[in-house]
Amino acid sequence: MKTALITGASGGLGREIALQCGRYFPEIEEYWLIARRTEKIEEYAQRLGGAKVRAISLDLAKDESYAALAELLAREKPEIALLVNNAGLGYWGAAEKLPVEKQINCVDVNVKAVSAVTAIALPYMRAGSRAVFVSSIASFVPNAYMAVYSATKAYVTSYARALRYELKGRKIGVTVVCPGPMDTEFIAAGGVKSKTFEKLPYCDVRKVAAGTLRAAKKGRFIYTNKLFYKFYRFLAKVLPAAWLVPAAKT
Ligand SMILES: NC(=O)c1ccc[n+]([C@@H]2O[C@H](COP(=O)([O-])OP(=O)(O)OC[C@H]3O[C@@H](n4cnc5c(N)ncnc54)[C@H](OP(=O)(O)O)[C@@H]3O)[C@@H](O)[C@H]2O)c1
Repeated sequence: MKTALITGASGGLGREIALQCGRYFPEIEEYWLIARRTEKIEEYAQRLGGAKVRAISLDLAKDESYAALAELLAREKPEIALLVNNAGLGYWGAAEKLPVEKQINCVDVNVKAVSAVTAIALPYMRAGSRAVFVSSIASFVPNAYMAVYSATKAYVTSYARALRYELKGRKIGVTVVCPGPMDTEFIAAGGVKSKTFEKLPYCDVRKVAAGTLRAAKKGRFIYTNKLFYKFYRFLAKVLPAAWLVPAAKT
């Protein structure tokens, strides 16, 4: 069965991507939607155009979740036509003050889980399949006061870029998505009280989801919503990071 496997599908961008997926990938027959709060997935499952939905409760920070996912895939052997590594979080605060457990949790979900889920899913992907990685504008320039978060997102973008090359031979497309701030649970969950966040233009989560799916369909590598953030991406490419770090602090 052609399957979309989406992490972090209980809310925010992951939920929107799931809801709009059928419009861009009508061939999807089954959704595997991962999050801890599967009850939030069940609330919208019937809106997925009659496709089969499997809400999978996994804490992606935990190693045993990767073994559980690997076992499930080995048993069911779906064809993963679309993989969306979207689950992620970021805590705001100075590295010396933020509790260590939070900083580790951010690395576990944004780095360890993305790498594990991808490696586990890849054997089930075929020519024409797509792998999507949700990174952030935080990957462009290191962000003081979200130092761990921005470093994890730099990892995601770098990892996706290397994978794109590796998977060319298998004709699997790789897309990395770099949104600016979106009005989701991310802000409250991460305790973000940054003045920079208050000033920045927000991205509409529905538009980001649509743009993500369009970019994946077309096989584009990088997708950033809004001209403002596209220009920021350009600046980050041409100017030394040390010049931009003070302006990019959160
Ligand atoms: N919102 C922004 O301003 C913004 C900007 C740029 C990039 N992003 C990125 O966009 C992606 C989606 O974030 P969002 O804005 O949609 O935030 P969100 O509404 O907080 O959604 C985050 C999702 O990740 C899941 N998740 C978090 N920790 C998890 C864990 N340990 N195990 C399994 N699932 C976990 C959550 O599910 P459960 O809590 O149910 O487990 C939820 O479904 C993230 O990668 C984020 O870094 C967000």
